[in-house]
Amino acid sequence: MYSTIIRPLTLAAFLTCVAGAATTEKRQAVDTTDTTAAAAKSNPVCTPYIAVRDAIMGDIFEGGCNDNTRAAVRLAFHDAGTFSLSLEAAGKDNGGADGSMLVDPNEVLRPENNGLQNIVALLKPLPERFNVTAGDVLHLAGTLAVLACPGGPLINTFVGRPPVKNINPDGLLPDTHDKVSNLVNRFADMGLTVRETMALIGAHTCAKQRFVSLADAGDSMDTTVDIWDIRFYGETQRNDTDADVFRLPSDLAFSQDPLTKNDFSRFVGSLSVQENWASEYADAHEKMSLLGQNVDDLTDCTEIMPAPIHLKDIVTDSSGGAVDPPVDPAKLQAELQSTREQWLP
Ligand code: HEM
Repeated sequence: MYSTIIRPLTLAAFLTCVAGAATTEKRQAVDTTDTTAAAAKSNPVCTPYIAVRDAIMGDIFEGGCNDNTRAAVRLAFHDAGTFSLSLEAAGKDNGGADGSMLVDPNEVLRPENNGLQNIVALLKPLPERFNVTAGDVLHLAGTLAVLACPGGPLINTFVGRPPVKNINPDGLLPDTHDKVSNLVNRFADMGLTVRETMALIGAHTCAKQRFVSLADAGDSMDTTVDIWDIRFYGETQRNDTDADVFRLPSDLAFSQDPLTKNDFSRFVGSLSVQENWASEYADAHEKMSLLGQNVDDLTDCTEIMPAPIHLKDIVTDSSGGAVDPPVDPAKLQAELQSTREQWLP
């Protein structure tokens, strides 16, 4: 079992992160005494989730951006993305960010959830082990996963979701072959604007596909699959032909369709655009993680989140205002090593 204890963010450290000035030092592990003291200063409602965080970051993500990490981001969307305002208005059983993917044995067997079986199996024991709900485990895993990929932003993270009421309704997750107007309408029915949708779709920065084209199974959706950057947007818009990169039909369509192309192209650019996207993504993901939940009944436990690795801290010194600034391999390795050491024994 994972044993290293990580210091939760103090309020001061949290505010510093939000201001974009997180440093490696702030992510250093500290001894148990310090951790206990820090935990005591924090909201006691959040304390049980520190152990959940450690299990996810250590045992499942192995301290970084691995295949379980990317699957956890997708899982958060597949759990929440079945929320429907029209079902809600009709008073029918609804989907939403409730963790039903971890509870119902059949949901994960649906074709649209292909590839999520492994992450579901890994997360499934955690609610009972830590006496928390499936919805909280699943969406904590989702926000931690974004942070675990270098460049991924800190997302406000809430706990206190009640136990699952019903299985997610079928047929509500978007299909990559569907036309843009239908996809946009489906997101609108979740309560998400086109701009929020285009920010969220950038999660494909850390994505691989296995089932859309079996011949290209394992291909990523941009050239830097382990880095949470905006390359996905520029490369998709240009439809670059890179080896081992597969462009989803829906992503290509979003980059070209009059309904979505302006909001899509908003995220093509240099380092400052990366910071804008990171912030808009964080807001949209937070909203996604709360679909179908009453936020007034939940507790903000962002304080237990680790500090992010900012892309500006790992790009080459000379990259300046370049589009898609290149990452400095030495800086990246140093950050990855430091992060791994915190979570792995
Ligand atoms: C129009 C909306 C979307 C469509 C049509 C779509 C479709 C897909 C498809 C077809 C795959 C590849 C599955 C496979 O073959 O293994 C995929 C992967 C992925 N998607 Fe999406 N997606 C959408 C939106 C989102 C959103 C909103 C998020 C998160 C916020 C997301 C996160 C991911 C991630 C992280 C992966 C990679 C999973 C892995 O590598 O294991 N997607 N998506």
